[in-house]
Amino acid sequence: MKQHPLAKEILFTDKQIEQRTKEVAKEVKAYYEKTSDSENTLLVIGLLKGCVPFYQTFCMNYEADLEMDFMVISSYLGGTKSNGEPKINLDVNSSVKDRDILIVEDIIESGITLDYVRKYLLNKGANSVKILTMLDKPTERKVDIQPDWVCYSIEKHFVIGYGLDYQEKLRNLPYVAICDTEKLASWKW
Ligand code: IMP
Ligand code: MG
Repeated sequence: MKQHPLAKEILFTDKQIEQRTKEVAKEVKAYYEKTSDSENTLLVIGLLKGCVPFYQTFCMNYEADLEMDFMVISSYLGGTKSNGEPKINLDVNSSVKDRDILIVEDIIESGITLDYVRKYLLNKGANSVKILTMLDKPTERKVDIQPDWVCYSIEKHFVIGYGLDYQEKLRNLPYVAICDTEKLASWKW
């Protein structure tokens, strides 16, 4: 696999992520089989754009019925630090009232984005709101929120690839890597 020059260290390859996501998809399915009314089809809401590769991998490995929807929340403004004020740029299309909702996210850092979205959906009358994230940086939390399912917990690194961007680029790398932030200052795209 060719490594992008801004990728300092590959943490997880697409094959590893797929394997891990399959395991997690089984756990999620088992949970909803136990707790949810079978007529209440799971609504899986992806937070664009970072969720895209992981959302696809998860949904293709979720062996039960689901419905798809998306939201766009901005909080990162393209840099490497969260500014802490989420804003809904695109709302869900589906009615969320009485639905069981699974939010699918690329990464949780401060938790501010997910805390906001979770409360927003509960206020709109969702029956339940659970959180699945590909990556978690648990040491960086600023609000008290725990994802329900996590593929990988990582240290405090700025990571790129498999949906994660630096200034909207690098989302298409087929792996998650630690970004070489020293190179960014003088980087020419
Ligand atoms: P939070 O609100 O601080 O939890 O931030 C969550 C959002 O910040 C994620 O959905 C990502 O879009 C972005 N983010 C957090 N950490 C990283 C990273 O290491 N690389 C790229 N984006 C990140
Ligand atoms: Mg995101």
